[in-house]
Amino acid sequence: SAENGSRLWLRYSTDGNATISCNKQSPMLDIATTELRKAWKGMPVTLILQRNKETRALGEEGYCLLTSDNGQKITITSAGERGLLYGAFHLLRLQDTGAENFSKLNIKESPTYDLRILNHWDNLDRSIERGYAGRSLWDWEALPSTLSDRYADYARANASIGINGTVINNVNASSQILSTEYLEKVKALADVFRPYGIRVYLSINFASPMQLGGLSTADPLDKEVIAWWKNKTKEIYRLIPDFGGFLVKANSEGQPGPCDFNRTHAEGANMLADAVKPYKGIIMWRAFVYSPSDADRAKQAYLEFQPLDGQFRNNVIVQIKNGPVDFQPREPYSPLFGAMPKTAQMVEFQITQEYLGFSNHLAYLAPMWKEFFDFVQPSSLKAMAGVANIGTDANWCGHPFAQSNWYAFGRLAWNPELSSGAIAEEWLKQTFFDAHNPQHAPIAHEVWQMMMQSREAVVDYMMPLGLHHLFAWGHHYGPEPWCDIPGARPDWMPSYYHKADKAGIGFDRSHTGSNATAQYPDSLCHLYDDINTCPDEYLLWFHHAPWNHTMQSGRTLWDELCFRYDRGVQQVRSFQRKWDLTENYIDMERFKDVQSRLKIQARDATWWKDACLLYFMEYSGMRIPYDIERPI
Ligand code: GCU
Repeated sequence: SAENGSRLWLRYSTDGNATISCNKQSPMLDIATTELRKAWKGMPVTLILQRNKETRALGEEGYCLLTSDNGQKITITSAGERGLLYGAFHLLRLQDTGAENFSKLNIKESPTYDLRILNHWDNLDRSIERGYAGRSLWDWEALPSTLSDRYADYARANASIGINGTVINNVNASSQILSTEYLEKVKALADVFRPYGIRVYLSINFASPMQLGGLSTADPLDKEVIAWWKNKTKEIYRLIPDFGGFLVKANSEGQPGPCDFNRTHAEGANMLADAVKPYKGIIMWRAFVYSPSDADRAKQAYLEFQPLDGQFRNNVIVQIKNGPVDFQPREPYSPLFGAMPKTAQMVEFQITQEYLGFSNHLAYLAPMWKEFFDFVQPSSLKAMAGVANIGTDANWCGHPFAQSNWYAFGRLAWNPELSSGAIAEEWLKQTFFDAHNPQHAPIAHEVWQMMMQSREAVVDYMMPLGLHHLFAWGHHYGPEPWCDIPGARPDWMPSYYHKADKAGIGFDRSHTGSNATAQYPDSLCHLYDDINTCPDEYLLWFHHAPWNHTMQSGRTLWDELCFRYDRGVQQVRSFQRKWDLTENYIDMERFKDVQSRLKIQARDATWWKDACLLYFMEYSGMRIPYDIERPI
């Protein structure tokens, strides 16, 4: 049945048999105790809401899990209800992953980030921008009077991994979302989410005062505009007292913004920040800006935002995509991180696989996000946002393995120090395998390896060695490095990025080119700027390298390119073989689903390799080495 995928990682049995008690009652605590009553099979558990020195130090969301009474009883203690909810899910996760000896639990947890937020790019017509798992969960027609069961299921899944905020509409926002009619619907969702510890946020259209309010301007310094936002904010908080705040995409890809009125991003953000301030709301202001200009696209966010450092109110967080271009399979980190010491910053990751094979390709993304954290100190950030991959599909995310990315995002937002391997293991045990059955272990390990190699495989068969944006026009799925649409924006054309010619391939972003390398801290700048020290994985991001350039492997660039594309294809085939091992261990439905998606992935990988190599071969004038698979 479709049930197999729909239960996500929360597949634990419902034959709990333990005594569960709590020293207080509330809707949230009821959820925590109900979860434990359903599934916990160990010793009695007591949830204790208690403010003391220890619990206060862990915060409202932190908790202690402790075995007490000589190993007879478990207590979960927290200063806040949310801490108890998270503690309950933690205990169930331990049971499900077979990880702990419950006779001596002594765990203290608190999240690294206070804000752990999903961004839904959901439109009001229920289409989802870059969504590959059905339609939007939010049934606007039926809201507010009819509530789908999936709202609570969604909130529960988020709570189980610590996600505590959701921006429910697309950053390309319709101003309609702020109409009273829609706000009533948003309130209905917020009411469902609240006992799961989840706050609602909205993406807003900066021109709402004009589009919705009938004003003649949306100038952030205009008195009427300021008053309009104040009133609107008041209306929202009357309906949703714990409303989180606004997410804003301004002056980006055609969206309106303060620059339309000759104001800065800071002036726009601050006006909204002042409106939500009395209610403790925040503004997440996106730095995803670029325009068709002479400046290298990869430099533009930095050029526009870095000079504004120190000008933002303290309830504004600048939300920056992990890389300087746009969610490519691999990018260096965005140099804007760390370049605005007086401004709160947060990272935006993309969970939905816009550039990573949609819901057809298996790509476990935690290694990509961890790579970002190799360069950016987790403590330098205020929050983490992830563009959701969730829709109305019975299994929520399209590809059964895409669930692991939702899961991993939540776990890393809670604790970015967790390793991607540990998260994958946790997820697999909860989702596919029985942690208590020793026969499952070797198979689970094979599948774990597949997950751990999967993102690198995508990089290899799509865009190795720092290549980026070779996608076909518009859909961002297949390859089209040759794409050339006369009159179209050059920065939306693959040739803008790969710059292949007879001399070589890659974008010169060193001091002899766009000098984007200079935006990085000195040590990295030097490393990246010199073609002889630039790491292979970023080579063609930062350099236009000659075809016969010697790579770290000793191969020429051309041979290395062929080798990487081929390696990606071979990897996917090895995934197919690994997956086939699971046939007798998991349900047929999910087995077949993943099996057939891997077939598509293997076919697509070959398509990418052949398309790119045959195209680039025209420039390199070199042969595809004999020891790799020839194009078909
Ligand atoms: C990408 C994506 C768009 C999205 C934009 C954004 O360019 O293709 O669909 O709107 O990012 O993040 O704002």
